[in-house]
Amino acid sequence: MAKQNIYILGIESSCDDTSASVIKNGKVLSNVVASQKIHEDYGGVVPELASRAHQQNIVPVVHQALEKARISKDELNAIAFTRGPGLMGSLLVGTSFAKSLAYGLNIPLIDVNHMQAHILAHFIEEEDFKKPPFPFLAMTISGGHTQIVKVDNYFEMTVIGETIDDAVGEAYDKSGKILGLGYPAGQEIDKRAQHGNPKAYPFTKPRVEGLNFSFSGLKTAILYFIQKETKANPNFIVENLDDICASIQYTIIGILIDKLKKASKETGIKHIAIGGGVSANSGIRKALKDGEQKFGWTTYIPKFEYTTDNAGMIAIVGYLKYLEGDFAEQNVMASARLKI
Ligand code: KG4
Ligand code: ZN
Repeated sequence: MAKQNIYILGIESSCDDTSASVIKNGKVLSNVVASQKIHEDYGGVVPELASRAHQQNIVPVVHQALEKARISKDELNAIAFTRGPGLMGSLLVGTSFAKSLAYGLNIPLIDVNHMQAHILAHFIEEEDFKKPPFPFLAMTISGGHTQIVKVDNYFEMTVIGETIDDAVGEAYDKSGKILGLGYPAGQEIDKRAQHGNPKAYPFTKPRVEGLNFSFSGLKTAILYFIQKETKANPNFIVENLDDICASIQYTIIGILIDKLKKASKETGIKHIAIGGGVSANSGIRKALKDGEQKFGWTTYIPKFEYTTDNAGMIAIVGYLKYLEGDFAEQNVMASARLKI
């Protein structure tokens, strides 16, 4: 008997990207992302504007995802959506839309935890990308998250370390603001860092217990440092921007890698996977590769489009839950602080 094809529509609306994706048996057919540019003018995500933009984008984005996948909505087997964590106003748009569509089509509704999805994005069927074997360690680094998770199985995960204040992407973006760069600043700091001296300006790393992270002290240290230097030389930033960026990047990567090394040592796990927008960073990628030589790690970095917020990762979790028959009720509610 021929295997039945399973089509899942995934919907992501937790922060400032409205995204829809169709996957067939774990392989992505479409992954449409509408990024909200409006927040750039404000130097950060404005929740009220984000939910309005989701409302505007959701129908065209879902329509495009179906069109690109060349399937009609009647062929879908289930609708998966991000239940949380995220901004409540944003989550409500995707949740309500997913509920109505599943109800109208009379197919199962599947709730997805956004943080699990960042990790399970590694299980999207993709040529030339290897999947991590269980157990593995996943480090999720983005503008909203910084976590190290021990992954024993698809849905058996334990957060073993996380930030106690800012996320790592926020550290990049706030540093960028101090330096007068645009928002978000991670990519530009990374680019400039590659031309600068990482040891030009040493910033102290925070002392945080166990496997947790802290980035707010670094931001303050950078602010005071820049204030002091620009007082002495008003052109300090322009004249030394590459070195400043390289020094910030060096400190941030040091913080991340120290904890990852500790996590690997404590758990004895050498399979290391990363995800989230900051995993695009050239320095973190190099540090992970070095870890393969130095510590015997095997590292896993998904295709770039699956590392940032996207619905492909929501759809793959939907597929895995569909196979287990793990469906949500129609009265399921969005949850801004949903835990793994
Ligand atoms: O995953 P993402 O697209 O959105 C969420 O925050 O959920 O991540 C965006 C974050 C921003 O803070 C941005 O500055 C950072 O990722 N980022 C980078 C790089 N590219 C994006 N940070 C460092 N280096 C990069 N190359
Ligand atoms: Zn995310």
